[in-house]
Amino acid sequence: MDVLQAIATRRSIRRYTGQPVSEQDLNTLLKAGFQAPSAHNYQPWHFIIVREKSILEGIAQFHPHAKMLPQAGCGIIVCGDEEKQAEPGFIVADCSAAIQNMLLAAHGIGLGAVWCGLYPMPQLTKPTSKLLNLPSTIIPIGMVVVGHKDEQKKPADRYDKSRVHMEHW
Ligand SMILES: Cc1cc2nc3c(=O)[nH]c(=O)nc-3n(C[C@H](O)[C@H](O)[C@H](O)COP(=O)(O)O)c2cc1C
Repeated sequence: MDVLQAIATRRSIRRYTGQPVSEQDLNTLLKAGFQAPSAHNYQPWHFIIVREKSILEGIAQFHPHAKMLPQAGCGIIVCGDEEKQAEPGFIVADCSAAIQNMLLAAHGIGLGAVWCGLYPMPQLTKPTSKLLNLPSTIIPIGMVVVGHKDEQKKPADRYDKSRVHMEHW
């Protein structure tokens, strides 16, 4: 799929068939994540692939907006290494770029995906860190829920010229 077409037609998918994501597709998503830009090119990310039912259900239990995770069958938790950022906050931007790359890649290969937020909500980051046994300097930023689609969504055109400012506000 052409990159502009992928950007224009990607939507959050929250209904899944339950068919597992293949290793090949998972690798495609991971490679897309690793290709993201990052501040100083520090590439501060770690990707935790979760497919085990008990862990998927554990996350869905405390995350009020990730109830679709067990049915999707796969979650990629994108974490940032606090010790690999020149300025506080860069890991959020870097990991978010990786997440968006993976969402677009998933869409491009016909999978469904949705970004589920973790950081900066301690009620989500703390139980995630505990469940996944994360070291204290590894911060869970967000999760890509991915699987085979069981819904189709129309593209949403959000272009709004009132938010575009030429030369100054
Ligand atoms: C930082 C962030 C956190 C999000 N968290 C959730 C979430 O926890 N659960 C969910 O279903 N969608 C979540 N979303 C997806 C948004 O709801 C979705 O992108 C938005 O409604 C626009 O719809 P679209 O993705 O279909 O274009 C999140 C998106 C972002 C960028």
